[in-house]
Amino acid sequence: MTELFADHLYEEQMVKEYGIETGDSGRELYLAGAYSPVKGILSLGWDKWKDEPAGDFVQGLVDWWRGAVRDVSSKPWVFGSHLLIGKGELGMDDLKTWAKGVYVGTTDRFMFEGLAEARAHAIRARDIRDLILRHLFEEMGHHEMMGDFLVGVFGMSREKEVYPLENPNNFPKGLLENYNRRIEMCAKGSFVEIAAVNMLEETWIPRPTRIARLGLSKHYQIPDKHLMFFDIHSYIDIYHERYGKYIIAKYATTKELQEKTEKSFKETMTRVIQQWERNYDAMAIHKR
Ligand SMILES: [Fe+2]
Ligand SMILES: [Fe+2]
Repeated sequence: MTELFADHLYEEQMVKEYGIETGDSGRELYLAGAYSPVKGILSLGWDKWKDEPAGDFVQGLVDWWRGAVRDVSSKPWVFGSHLLIGKGELGMDDLKTWAKGVYVGTTDRFMFEGLAEARAHAIRARDIRDLILRHLFEEMGHHEMMGDFLVGVFGMSREKEVYPLENPNNFPKGLLENYNRRIEMCAKGSFVEIAAVNMLEETWIPRPTRIARLGLSKHYQIPDKHLMFFDIHSYIDIYHERYGKYIIAKYATTKELQEKTEKSFKETMTRVIQQWERNYDAMAIHKR
């Protein structure tokens, strides 16, 4: 199950498949001229975070997370039920419930990184500032793309049905708690905590998303034009994980910071697992 985490070979495959380096994908993803604050961080197999002072600490977080996933690997909802989509096991109603869950998950977490970015600028923490900004930039529009999926595949009204899903006033309790914690962290938390909770957190996404993407084509006959969200998340979080690893490995150098970061990361990832289960519980397949 943990072989579903992205690795070097997977990255090579995605870079080739999507033409990321050559820019011939036609998706305008790396054409905006944003610079990369850490030289080489986007190159194949980059792992220089290991040379930073808290590299071992980062490795410990990754190992803990793989263990936590292994513990739930027999559950159908592991990796947010993405594997079920890969096998075409959800009916259309459940697919809609699942997609709405994915949509909400894309909206509640990133926007407040702007607060952290401004704080990093104020203290001239330049590489942290620019990696946060780069992350925020690369998340831009992802919730709109997922909204396109809901509109295109299920005929939902963007104004009346899609946007209300991202309104915190409509969030169930668990989600609202997560939302508020993320705001607080971006407004007041340490940068390494933010890197763990908003960037390293995304480490699980690429491979299961790739599996879901192929299933959406194969089993649900959803045309490519509606699948941009899933195409992008088949690879972009290879890099977001790295931004997180680099910031933590370079700056989580005190015992106090490491304890705080570890606690936040474990709490957040435990909530991610709970959310996977909750989203599954909302589906009819669960009640069969
Ligand atoms: Fe994203
Ligand atoms: Fe991301």
